[in-house]
Amino acid sequence: MTAEAGHLDQLPDTLRDLPSWTPDPVELADLELLLTGAYRPLTGFLGAFDAAMVIAGGRLADGTPWPVPVTLTVPQDLTSHERLVLQDPEGVPLAVLQVTEAWQDPTTSDWRLAGPLEPLRAPAHGPFHRLRRRPDEVAAELPEGAVLAVATREPLHRKQLGQLRQLAEKLNATVLVMPLLGGAHDESLVRALLAVRRDLPDGARIVPVPLPPRPGVDDERDLRLRSHVAAAYGATHLMGAEADEASEETEDATTAIPVVRPEPWAYDADVEVWRPVARIEPDHVQAELTRAELEDLLDRGEPIPEWFTPPAVAAELAVARPPKLRRGLTVFFTGLSGSGKSTVARGLSDALIERGGRTVTLLDGDVVRRLLSAGLSFSKADRDLNIRRIGYVAAEITRHGGVAICAPIAPYAETRAEVRRMVEATGDFVLVHVSTPLEECERRDRKGLYAKARAGLIPDFTGISAPYEEPDDADLVLDTSQLTPEEAVNKVLDLLVAGGWVRPE
Ligand code: ADX
Repeated sequence: MTAEAGHLDQLPDTLRDLPSWTPDPVELADLELLLTGAYRPLTGFLGAFDAAMVIAGGRLADGTPWPVPVTLTVPQDLTSHERLVLQDPEGVPLAVLQVTEAWQDPTTSDWRLAGPLEPLRAPAHGPFHRLRRRPDEVAAELPEGAVLAVATREPLHRKQLGQLRQLAEKLNATVLVMPLLGGAHDESLVRALLAVRRDLPDGARIVPVPLPPRPGVDDERDLRLRSHVAAAYGATHLMGAEADEASEETEDATTAIPVVRPEPWAYDADVEVWRPVARIEPDHVQAELTRAELEDLLDRGEPIPEWFTPPAVAAELAVARPPKLRRGLTVFFTGLSGSGKSTVARGLSDALIERGGRTVTLLDGDVVRRLLSAGLSFSKADRDLNIRRIGYVAAEITRHGGVAICAPIAPYAETRAEVRRMVEATGDFVLVHVSTPLEECERRDRKGLYAKARAGLIPDFTGISAPYEEPDDADLVLDTSQLTPEEAVNKVLDLLVAGGWVRPE
């Protein structure tokens, strides 16, 4: 069957009975690249020996250079099958894995499956899907001669555009811009690159490729991986990072194609153009805008200077990193029952609504349990599920630029960390520990629950018969036995003003 063939309703009967599994986002990107041939010579997920050799020496067991372990992790109960359907997050089957090896990772103890893949259908999701092309198609359409690829997770600013034109001219190369998808703002990255189309050399192609950042892979191995993928798309050279001194090619046996590094460029403030530093009078060299300075301008909503990047790119940078006054934010309160979380959270919500300019959603612990998490118990598993649901909703509110105020007990550090990760992928996250001591919460006992818990009428009660893991990553600690509710709310507001999320009064 070809990658194009097959719809869900045409899935052969023989496959319907197979177990199925949805790989994680990095694995799904790997699957797509394996199926399209972008990872050639790899045709399937790696087994234990190949993976170990790649990690140790950057080569497959047969000696072929390959920079990163391309592996598939599954739950242990899926390791006893001969064939497994791999599906996308919506449940659409993408490929059948012929399992040749089930192995356990020696460091993580995760179970992994290796083996060749039989494609069922090409993944057909995601923005700008029409720009996604198979490597063999792209390679076939490129003109004869040198092809210089730029495989990037960042927009190209005036400097990189100049360097790219210089290198392309020097190599007499066609340019292939490959936005690497899998970051938080893929659409924005692609739009920023489409926006500079006319600043690219004539005939340049833009082809997005799913190559998310891989946790635990260093820049050097990442560059090597990009060289392999670029080569599969027909590139003969890959643009690397700016060289420290004069332009040099890195002839590295383990990159699939040579990596060419542009010579250092700077902005010549005298004639107001970017050009090689070597051609600028030293006192005309304008200091580079550092990443920290750029982020600071974006955070404060100030214009990005035109000498640095074209306005259309600046607009996309602001989409990916909105000014803090408009950026989505989750304020997550954690603390014992009766610690005062709800009171402070409610007070914060009221204060933000009174000030205006922000939409606020309050996700109070008890309220969430009446609807979103109705029916869940107070076992560890159910509490974790409750917190993950709150985190999911908070992350969506944050993605849309709102303020989510959450106030569950959230007693487990690992689950709170998971929520932080979910939210930080879409905006900002502030953790407030309401640290009112247990004795004080129990003395207040507004709902009479502590008395019942002491009497053994409520099992797994936080602080009495279930744990509360104190946060060590709180941005603010509030002890409401030492503060009035108003003082506590003001402390949170002060933090939000100091952080730039809320305008000072
Ligand atoms: S969490 O652990 O999952 O974060 P959550 O904030 O939703 O807890 O719910 C806590 C509220 O449920 C408490 O304020 C209290 O009113 C009520 N509750 C009922 N049983 C328990 C229990 N066993 N432990 C803690 N809170 C409980």
